[in-house]
Amino acid sequence: MTAAPVAAPAYDRADWASAFRNVGVELDGVAVRAASGTIPAELKGTLYRNGPGRLERGGQWVHHPFDGDGMITALRFEAGEAQLRNRFVRTEGFEAEEQAGKFLYRGVFGTQKPGGVAANAFDLRLKNIANTHVVRLGDQLLALWEAAEPHALDPDTLETRGLSLLDGVLKKGEAFSAHPRFDPGHHGAPRMVTFGVQSGPRSTIRLMEFAVEDDAASGVKAGQLLSERRDSFGGFAFLHDFAITPNWAVFLQNAIAFNPLPYVAGRKGAAQCLQSQPGGQAKFWLIPRDVGAFAGQKPRIIDAPDGFVFHHLNAWEEGDDVVVESIFYADFPSIGPDEDFRSVNFELLPEGLLEQCRINLSDGSVSTQRLSERCCEFAMVNPEREGLPCRFAWMAVTERETGNDPLQAIKKLDLQSGERQVWSAAPRGFVSEPLMVPRPGSSLEDDGWVLCLVWNGARCASDLVILDAASLAEVAVLELPLAVPHGLHGSWAPA
Ligand SMILES: [Fe+2]
Repeated sequence: MTAAPVAAPAYDRADWASAFRNVGVELDGVAVRAASGTIPAELKGTLYRNGPGRLERGGQWVHHPFDGDGMITALRFEAGEAQLRNRFVRTEGFEAEEQAGKFLYRGVFGTQKPGGVAANAFDLRLKNIANTHVVRLGDQLLALWEAAEPHALDPDTLETRGLSLLDGVLKKGEAFSAHPRFDPGHHGAPRMVTFGVQSGPRSTIRLMEFAVEDDAASGVKAGQLLSERRDSFGGFAFLHDFAITPNWAVFLQNAIAFNPLPYVAGRKGAAQCLQSQPGGQAKFWLIPRDVGAFAGQKPRIIDAPDGFVFHHLNAWEEGDDVVVESIFYADFPSIGPDEDFRSVNFELLPEGLLEQCRINLSDGSVSTQRLSERCCEFAMVNPEREGLPCRFAWMAVTERETGNDPLQAIKKLDLQSGERQVWSAAPRGFVSEPLMVPRPGSSLEDDGWVLCLVWNGARCASDLVILDAASLAEVAVLELPLAVPHGLHGSWAPA
């Protein structure tokens, strides 16, 4: 299904937009067969996906899909068979709005309560919609939303256990990133490294490291906080993601300003009040990890190149250099108050382009290299090599070689040679974040599979596509009896 590059958009906007819908069912462990190919018997574990599942209430649509309530999709693989389950996260806001049949909360991305500006002004309550990411930590499945604490779910049934303060680690309502990074064991046992950010004229990052496995010798339990530190920086911080190396947590502070007045006045959502700061200077903030060689030292603050970054691919260390690979946009893609997200003009959106920044810690210089010209998002390396130099990356890309479009293809990029392979779902398919799952026991970097939920515009439902991670050849396609709207992040939990 690899397609040659084309000059004009190869998709029908109606196919893309048909994925914006409410999910009306919750399936409870339905067996799913491969419509083509065979599910690999070695693939043992659960794919979890999170994303907005409720986009309309009482005839009113969310202003942006990111305001939709979180719904978890889980596909459990065992012995060449798959079982599908999906559940909404029963957040307080979801339960209340289900009962009321209308929006009771304002959304961060501009969804307003019915009743106009007067009904929205001065209502600064946040609705924790738990819709951004889902990860396994100990015996909990955590549905993450970066502005507040996680929701804990049962990893098997997906039932919502409730808001979690992680055994007293978090305060009520404390920000907790939706982008944890998993250290595969650079210092012994694997860890989950994550952060929370308190933004203001000065911003404070709380960096936290959690055990992900029980350790009988030390008595450490999975989910236990192992270390933390807090660092304050000048200026407003908008930090969605970060990257880790064995010794550093790497943040890129975009040159962004936040003017809360239209939010307080009930005219805009909080995220719509973020704006590029003309002439502003982006910064790398490098915070030493407590487990690393620079523990206890002050953060390094270094000027970063222009552009806006949501997501990083990976970072690693090489002598005095910290190298970080990120998806750069020329500008912050803001969401105007009068735009309908379904009629967005892709031609006017900046492209996401993968770039490598080499930060020299001894002289503070940064050199930047473009790694690919094709618009991409949701990139990852083999998770067993996170924080190390990697040769391969997998990412979602547009079908066209240049320009912005909906994401329709999966690309494997050789970061050293630039060589690439592409699997395409075009013209009627739209991909989500691809997850690379290493083959158990293999030490080859690209040995494994890529799992991707694809919106199938012809069926108006979702397919789970399993690709060979090395060649991107199709291994199996599962036509799910479920329509999952365009989603956000997910993870793989081995059995
Ligand atoms: Fe993200």
